[in-house]
Amino acid sequence: MFIKNAWYVAAWGNEIGRHLTQRWITGEPLVMFRTEAGEVAVLEDRCAHRRASLSKGNLVGDAVQCGYHGITFDCSGKCTHIPGQDKIPPAMQVRRYPVIEKWKWIWVWMGDPDKADESLLPEFQYNDMPGWLATGGCLKVDANYQLLTDNLLDLTHETYVHGKTIGNSAIVETPMEYRVEGNEVHVQRIMRNTPPPPLFKKVRGFTGNIDRWQVIRFQMPANVSIDARGYPAGIDDLEQGMRWFSINSITPIDERSSLYFWTITRCFALDDDNLTQMINDQILKTFLEDVEVLEAQQQLIETDTRANPDISIRADSGAISARRIVQRLAEADAVQAQPVEASVN
Ligand code: FES
Ligand SMILES: [Fe+2]
Repeated sequence: MFIKNAWYVAAWGNEIGRHLTQRWITGEPLVMFRTEAGEVAVLEDRCAHRRASLSKGNLVGDAVQCGYHGITFDCSGKCTHIPGQDKIPPAMQVRRYPVIEKWKWIWVWMGDPDKADESLLPEFQYNDMPGWLATGGCLKVDANYQLLTDNLLDLTHETYVHGKTIGNSAIVETPMEYRVEGNEVHVQRIMRNTPPPPLFKKVRGFTGNIDRWQVIRFQMPANVSIDARGYPAGIDDLEQGMRWFSINSITPIDERSSLYFWTITRCFALDDDNLTQMINDQILKTFLEDVEVLEAQQQLIETDTRANPDISIRADSGAISARRIVQRLAEADAVQAQPVEASVN
């Protein structure tokens, strides 16, 4: 189940250049490249002739030449050349997908092109904002994308999965608050006068207790930002503390695998390259702990023949609300879906 009328991260901006890159998103194959002018183009990666993979062909100027029989499509998806034939049938075109490059990532609209709306991008401006420094990556995860958003909306797992980095018992001992606003879910946990987790000690050298905030925001279809702050207990001063955003966008490849785009973007000690590398390494290690849990969970879910055996607890509230939003929007898309005409402009 996917929301189609939504933006999904297809790549980091620096991954896409003057070469053909294939990505699968919500079960659809895409071919991506930059034009000579530097714009990103995204087409269906399925040749209109015999459905060969265009991404295995060649980029010729701003056009893709299919590697099978040489038919060529420009960056709008329009066929410009058929070898040995002058007449081009009108149906010989491939679908073009709306695309936006913003905040270091390339976002593709998977639904009706007429509904593509930039205002539906999540507010991930901290990925690329003066005074903030982002580091991050992308992980391929063999798990359904909603297992990842569940994970990010219930941080009690940090206590058990991430005890070497960002987890400790303060998280499960502190009640969380949550609310739903339109298509967003907000979950927060404020931990007062609590021991710092190991990574916070490494980053800021805390010797005593801290006040710690986790302010989580879910934006459809699968975007989660976490405003994480830690200050010496009772001292609301960034100079002595730390603040970063964990910014996460999960792109479903299909129902059982995902691309996990992530950054940590911070607003302190920006010139400290060693600190940047250490944070990147530790967060990557932390997320790989999640991947291990989620991939095993995916296997156990898909081999379970029972319809809906999960039993929910209070900590699931945010994740359940997010799933309801996704289900409602995905069902609305399915009801409204008309055959999408290939766009040629
Ligand atoms: S399949 Fe692409 S040109 Fe024939
Ligand atoms: Fe985690």
